[in-house]
Amino acid sequence: MEDLDQTFIQAPEHRADSNSIPNQPEEIPVIDLSRLNDPEDIQNVISEIGDACETWGFFQVINHGVPCDTRKRVEETVKIFFDLPMEEKIKVKRDEVNPAGYHDGEHTKNVRDWKEVFDIYFKDPMVMPSSTDPEDEGLRVVYNKWPQFPSDYREACQEYAGHAEKLAFRLLELISLSLGLPKERFHDYFKEQMSFFRINRYPPCPRPDLALGVGHHKDADVISLLAQDDVGGLQISRRSDGVWFPIRPVPNALVINIGNCMEVWTNDKYWSAEHRVVVNSTRERYSIPFFLLPSHDVEVKPLEELLSPENPPRYKGYKYGKFYVSRNRSDFKKLEIQNIQIDDFKVVT
Ligand code: OGA
Ligand code: NI
Repeated sequence: MEDLDQTFIQAPEHRADSNSIPNQPEEIPVIDLSRLNDPEDIQNVISEIGDACETWGFFQVINHGVPCDTRKRVEETVKIFFDLPMEEKIKVKRDEVNPAGYHDGEHTKNVRDWKEVFDIYFKDPMVMPSSTDPEDEGLRVVYNKWPQFPSDYREACQEYAGHAEKLAFRLLELISLSLGLPKERFHDYFKEQMSFFRINRYPPCPRPDLALGVGHHKDADVISLLAQDDVGGLQISRRSDGVWFPIRPVPNALVINIGNCMEVWTNDKYWSAEHRVVVNSTRERYSIPFFLLPSHDVEVKPLEELLSPENPPRYKGYKYGKFYVSRNRSDFKKLEIQNIQIDDFKVVT
């Protein structure tokens, strides 16, 4: 039995085999977006997306417009980077102030994740609050970090991100329509979007029974678009009963999930599902999520037009940038306190 550093060990109730079923009991929908070319089918696609957001908080899309070549190129390029010796990788290391770049010490809920990451902002530079203090209106401008080698790393990543962002807005419009709202209802929230994308590498793990690639969490964004390879490991918690089950890798598909902001905007109609990544002892795994985030100054709160006397707001508003900065600090290193969660903004009834 190989020893595993204590920092990686999950509490027994959060380990890979706890409360999970090995096969997907019901299929998470795989939605073919080429159907949007058929005017008679558009409404069906919109309602399938709406149902998936409500029932699962997850779905997959195929024929989504992100070219296979672009995806293949970024997958190959980032692998070259991650295979470099550590002294090369830490030249572009993330620091306490700027979350961009390479990092191998991410924590989810104060337990260390079995992974390495590389974070890239969609907007470069990006504007974010300079502190977690709600009274402090100071802002900071942060820049991406790029490795010297491989020399086309930056170009490959930016090309992929451009396509992913385009798709994110298409999906946002469809989600908006599925709620009976105007197509562009959410657009103003993204003038200075804090969106970023991440390369996750999960190395083989000697004790997949004790550690997780990513501990259970909800994404703090609006929606996430995840490209995963064929290894598998992503699991989600079922809305109806909390049972964990795997998301099957589908070639060239993207996994879409609802994040905290959309959950709050829809006053819990759409569900931000808890998910986690289990690791294995033989194969490394890569995934590339694109996280769609609003501008730092957006106050996230339930949308007025979805509220009624029977459906009063379930959340207080929160400034997105402040939430992001607080969360980021706790992802960077282990803290002594529980990190900030969306439930901290629930209205107590
Ligand atoms: C994440 C995440 C899932 C995966 O990075 O937030 O949930 O399959 N990743 O890598
Ligand atoms: Ni996630």
